[in-house]
Amino acid sequence: MNIDGIRKFASEQLARVPALYLYHSGRHTLTVVKYAREFGELEGLSAVELDMLETAAWFHDLGYVECNAGHEAASARLAERVLPKFGFTAKQTELASGIIRTTKLPVLPATAMEKILCDADVEYIGRSEFYRSGMLLRQELSLLGRDFSELEWLDFEIKFLTGFRFFSAAARRLRSAGQLRRLRELELARKPFTDRKDRIS
Ligand SMILES: [Fe+2]
Repeated sequence: MNIDGIRKFASEQLARVPALYLYHSGRHTLTVVKYAREFGELEGLSAVELDMLETAAWFHDLGYVECNAGHEAASARLAERVLPKFGFTAKQTELASGIIRTTKLPVLPATAMEKILCDADVEYIGRSEFYRSGMLLRQELSLLGRDFSELEWLDFEIKFLTGFRFFSAAARRLRSAGQLRRLRELELARKPFTDRKDRIS
């Protein structure tokens, strides 16, 4: 398994992701790679599993080069075509492809590696980085034709944070408290909208 080759290949491919994907940028993927490995180490994955997880992280959003809807499947198909060239066995390729496919919403990961990748994909919700990423996601969705008012955006974020629970023990330990803080902050930010409505009625 040639992980250095994969890093180089994926970095080159990331440069081809259209610029309108402000959130799903190379920076996002690099962050997912970093925390997938960090959570994976804390979860006690083997060296081979860590390399496989990192590979899935590098590939998981490369499908955006091709399309928006269905990008997870496009990412997985790219991995299936390319990974054997980097020394992945048929079994390892299939596994990596399966991990990538589990990042499709709503996420339902089953294995340890799937759980960690899904956690790493949104780990920023447990950090103050949440606001920067959120702003980029909102701008990206707007460029794709989906606009949100301030209140709609707060509700969108609150719904996501309320419904999401980290899957791995490592991510829960490191990010759940931050996730709860973000949720409280969002609810506070939403309060003036409710108060205003109360005044009118
Ligand atoms: Fe992602």
